[in-house]
Amino acid sequence: MNNLIQSTMEFVRSELENEGSGHDWWHIHRVTKTARRIAEKEGADLLICTMAALLHDLADEKLNETEEAGVKRVTDWLDQIKVTGNQREQILTIIQSISFKGGHGPTLNSLEAKVVQDADRLDAIGAIGIARCFTYAGSKGNIIHDPETIPREGMSLEEYRKRDGTAINHFYEKLLRLKDLMKTNTGYEMAKQRHQFMEHYLEEFFDEWSSIK
Ligand code: ADP
Ligand code: NI
Repeated sequence: MNNLIQSTMEFVRSELENEGSGHDWWHIHRVTKTARRIAEKEGADLLICTMAALLHDLADEKLNETEEAGVKRVTDWLDQIKVTGNQREQILTIIQSISFKGGHGPTLNSLEAKVVQDADRLDAIGAIGIARCFTYAGSKGNIIHDPETIPREGMSLEEYRKRDGTAINHFYEKLLRLKDLMKTNTGYEMAKQRHQFMEHYLEEFFDEWSSIK
């Protein structure tokens, strides 16, 4: 394997090994594999997609004190390894532009950014996405479901950033919207089954809920 990739994998693994909100090393591992698969099908640059997928959550505002501190974590690493100036810029641009931000993220210009965003979003849906949603909610102290709180529509970036809703409402506020927001055909095709499974899961959830009398 390429040395850049190997050393970046080891670095990210040590940084995110014990992350407890669903952004642990295995999330990174899955997103990287999915990004590589989509990249091959879509003809995107494999090295850029792999590096951006590996590093994408290290800079995330959720996992750092500030947005700037997160970006510094990635730039410090990129400055240590042998990437060209052009590759460095491409990787940083992708990482800084793919976050969902309640639907307030910027328009993506490069195919590589679309590939990595689709791969990250695929890990937020389906059976694994469901597990991550509840893990994230639990880590924030949010509850599973409250029938008296309805999902919010058209949240501002500030409202989305508070992340104070219930886990079940997060399906309506974000997860069920992701299939139609996929940017590549390959990502869209992969999203269909996962989307269907979430719909089925919610049906069962509400059936059980209403059967408890
Ligand atoms: P991004 O990193 O693309 O901006 P998010 O920060 O919205 O995306 O979400 C990252 C992960 O955390 C996803 O799996 C998402 O479902 C989960 N998550 C984010 N906000 C919430 C929330 N309020 N409740 C439950 N899960 C959440
Ligand atoms: Ni991620």
